[in-house]
Amino acid sequence: MRITTARLLLREYEPGDLTALLACHADPRAREFYGPEEAQPDQVRELLRTFETWASERPRRNYQLAIALGADAAALVGSAGLRQAGLQAGTADLGLELAPGWWGRGFATEAGSALLNFGFGRLGLDTIRGLTISANTRVAALVRRLRFEHVAEHPGAAWMSERGWTETEWRLTRERWTFR
Ligand SMILES: CC(C)(COP(=O)(O)OP(=O)(O)OC[C@H]1O[C@@H](n2cnc3c(N)ncnc32)[C@H](O)[C@@H]1OP(=O)(O)O)[C@@H](O)C(=O)NCCC(=O)NCCS
Repeated sequence: MRITTARLLLREYEPGDLTALLACHADPRAREFYGPEEAQPDQVRELLRTFETWASERPRRNYQLAIALGADAAALVGSAGLRQAGLQAGTADLGLELAPGWWGRGFATEAGSALLNFGFGRLGLDTIRGLTISANTRVAALVRRLRFEHVAEHPGAAWMSERGWTETEWRLTRERWTFR
């Protein structure tokens, strides 16, 4: 499973991606909106195994793709996914992150647009949902650029409310994406 854009390649994860993934999750800017138990090295290893399992499932419900850059796609700049497991048929959750060194160049918008085309096109989804943390203004700007609409604020996990944050729910329908 590969998606190409003008500057990026979205491809399946490989075992060799572990080092880049660990480095990305170790950066404090990437961890700012993670819960206390998220993104620890053992969990990152487990995450990579989970992505490989998702790729082998038939029918496949979850896609989590590495975002690679350059003619030879040598640099891993981020991760993008659509997850349908546990959700109503025709619906998926979007997940998108970039290693902090690659922020501010439009890569998340480019990768996100390509993944939305894939979700509403090949996967035949009707609705894509986004769940973000209220204080994460960069991701709010990103989902607005991708035409998501604000749905609701939820209390979120205890560690979020302890910091005064809520969980923001966003939604994008196929109609809104197609007729933009
Ligand atoms: C959310 C996240 C992916 C957004 O990254 P981002 O770099 O802000 O978004 P983009 O890659 O689309 O870049 C957009 C910026 O690049 C600029 N840009 C520069 N060159 C550009 C180009 N060629 N095309 C488009 N935009 C360009 C835009 O003007 C915009 O700048 P601004 O932030 O000053 O408005 C990133 O902040 C992140 O990974 N955060 C941590 C993880 C996270 O919070 N994930 C979400 C959990 S659900």
